[in-house]
Amino acid sequence: MIIAVDGPAASGKGTIARALAAYFGLPHLDTGLLYRAVGLTLKRAGGDPASEADAAAATGFADGVLADPELRTEATGALASRVSAHPAVRAALMARQRAFAHRPGGAVLDGRDIGTVIAPEADVKLYVTASPRVRAERRAVEMAGRGLIADVDAMEAEIRARDARDMGRDHAPLAQADDADLLDTSELSIDAAIQRAIALVEARV
Ligand code: C5P
Repeated sequence: MIIAVDGPAASGKGTIARALAAYFGLPHLDTGLLYRAVGLTLKRAGGDPASEADAAAATGFADGVLADPELRTEATGALASRVSAHPAVRAALMARQRAFAHRPGGAVLDGRDIGTVIAPEADVKLYVTASPRVRAERRAVEMAGRGLIADVDAMEAEIRARDARDMGRDHAPLAQADDADLLDTSELSIDAAIQRAIALVEARV
């Protein structure tokens, strides 16, 4: 069983994907981490995110970078969003994601283009979203938990900018697949969102 979970930044898709993987006993791949690893590797090499050649060179990142705490910052997320617009970057990361999706027994993958490009054949596709304000508030709470101060208005502006870039790009833009179920988590607690996601999967298989 392949479960594709797509959606914008801070929508809850990562939490939902991890919970589905645990519930159904499947391996999980957070594909955003791959793009983040490219962004961070490029930055450390002094590359230019606007250069497709520099970004493509960073796709050969060392796997160790996937465990780097700097991968999780909003700055790295924004950098990932810039490098991920280059077709050469998307092409270089495709085989790894497809191989993961086709592991025997199945897998859960979350990202932006799993249901549309990486695994259009997925058995279940969820498009997880929430309003930009709610997503900004969640990020602020998350940051406060890590002892960081977050300005919700600034965070909302960053989230809107990242949405615009991810939805507006020419290659594999963020979009709900025609056959995906929509899960809007704006008014749901984490537990309620997970229960709803499990019910949507069970209704499809
Ligand atoms: O999900 P996360 O915030 O970690 O993703 C970081 C960035 O990587 C996104 O804003 C998006 O531009 C890019 N991405 C992508 N395709 C994916 C996953 C992430 O383009 N499947």
